[in-house]
Amino acid sequence: MTTLIKNGRIVTSADDFIGDIFIDGETIKAVGNDLPVTADKVIDASGLLVMPGGIDPHVHLEMPFMGTFSSDTYETGTRAALHGGTTCVIDFILQKQGNSLRAAFDEWSGRATGNAVGDYSFHMAVTDFNDSTRQEIKQMVDEGITSFKTFMAYKGALMIDDRQMVGLMDEVKAQGGMVTVHATNGDVIDYLIQKHKSEGKFAPLYHYLSQPEVTEAEASERFADMANFSGCPGYIVHMTCEGALNAIRQATRRNQKVFVETCIQYLVLDASLYEKNFDGAKWVMSPPLREKKDQEALWSGINQGLVQIVATDHCPFTWEQKNMGKDDFSKIPNGHPAIEHRMELLFSEGVNKGRISLNKFVEVTSTNPAKIFGMFPYKGTLGAGADADIILFDPNEKHTVSVNSHHMNTNYSAYEGWELTGKVKTVLLRGTVVIDDNKCLVEKGYGKFVKRKKVSGVV
Ligand code: URP
Ligand code: ZN
Ligand code: ZN
Repeated sequence: MTTLIKNGRIVTSADDFIGDIFIDGETIKAVGNDLPVTADKVIDASGLLVMPGGIDPHVHLEMPFMGTFSSDTYETGTRAALHGGTTCVIDFILQKQGNSLRAAFDEWSGRATGNAVGDYSFHMAVTDFNDSTRQEIKQMVDEGITSFKTFMAYKGALMIDDRQMVGLMDEVKAQGGMVTVHATNGDVIDYLIQKHKSEGKFAPLYHYLSQPEVTEAEASERFADMANFSGCPGYIVHMTCEGALNAIRQATRRNQKVFVETCIQYLVLDASLYEKNFDGAKWVMSPPLREKKDQEALWSGINQGLVQIVATDHCPFTWEQKNMGKDDFSKIPNGHPAIEHRMELLFSEGVNKGRISLNKFVEVTSTNPAKIFGMFPYKGTLGAGADADIILFDPNEKHTVSVNSHHMNTNYSAYEGWELTGKVKTVLLRGTVVIDDNKCLVEKGYGKFVKRKKVSGVV
């Protein structure tokens, strides 16, 4: 089966021109002007942007967390991602303390295999680093899992200490991988949570007040120092604030490169949402939303090249699940639904409002995730030999976000009523049209596991 996408505005992280894309089977064969080819299927992309499929490297599907499971399955979550123009996601496997990485890998593979609609890969979260875990790092790299997630927070659950962190960094460096981190100071946060509760302060606002900016700035700097000492490539997930960004800016002064991801919510939402009494639970996530000055710092950080990726940290829960913390903010499952809206929100708030260029949009939503996590150039760009993961996007169409039209398995939207400019019209995943005109045309099982290459720490 061959497909020709004609007359679109082809945009990659580097290029921008009117042209055609010729696809044979799952792969792009040629990109250029007026390609002299015939094809089984022709798609007219006049007036549309033609861009690489989005890659969201931070999602949590069916994740056991805080006494429940995140509410999107691999089927519902990757389908919703496709509707929003994201063709590949990287999910987090969580090692259970006392158990092996292999056992966790098998458990997560069991949930994903045959169920994903879009492509997916895994990071491995190491929650218990010991001599036996050390032996398994190479095995995971051989399986194509080349990034290892750590938590400096969630004390008593997922958190590791600095001794484990440097030990893990030594081994991951030796095996050609990368250590990624949720960088906030778990001890200080634990102290503040207990303090607020002992003072009878249980509203969602106190979730925010228990994780002040300093907890993130301090942990980000500590992580950068440990990565610099060990020489291990490092990546900070879901950075939210100016203080943490400045810690990484400081690390560049000794010529260190630490990769930084922010998430769409930290660019467009702020902490005033926590003043809505229990409704604020919709945005209880860790780290919490911050201030307007932090949003400005993050937008600038993207343009300065300090922030390489805009992800989602999609970790959805239903309103009933959020109500588990009705009387105690520390029991509200942390996370919010966003997998479907990342691309359109970033286009509307970023490109359309003149904050970032179109090439930057592609870079932070697709090309950099592919490069940093060992999937480039077969994902993350539109070149001969790449997977034909392609979105056709109308930059002018206006639409409104609502729980009534989204495809995520949550019964509220964190962006209800937001009016966006720019809409995903058609999505191809490995050469097949998977989304057209708001309809998903493939079944669960179409999504494939993406085995990733070793990472270099340089892009
Ligand atoms: O609130 C969040 N971020 N939930 C998901 C787990 C994590 O820390 O990424
Ligand atoms: Zn986190
Ligand atoms: Zn997360």
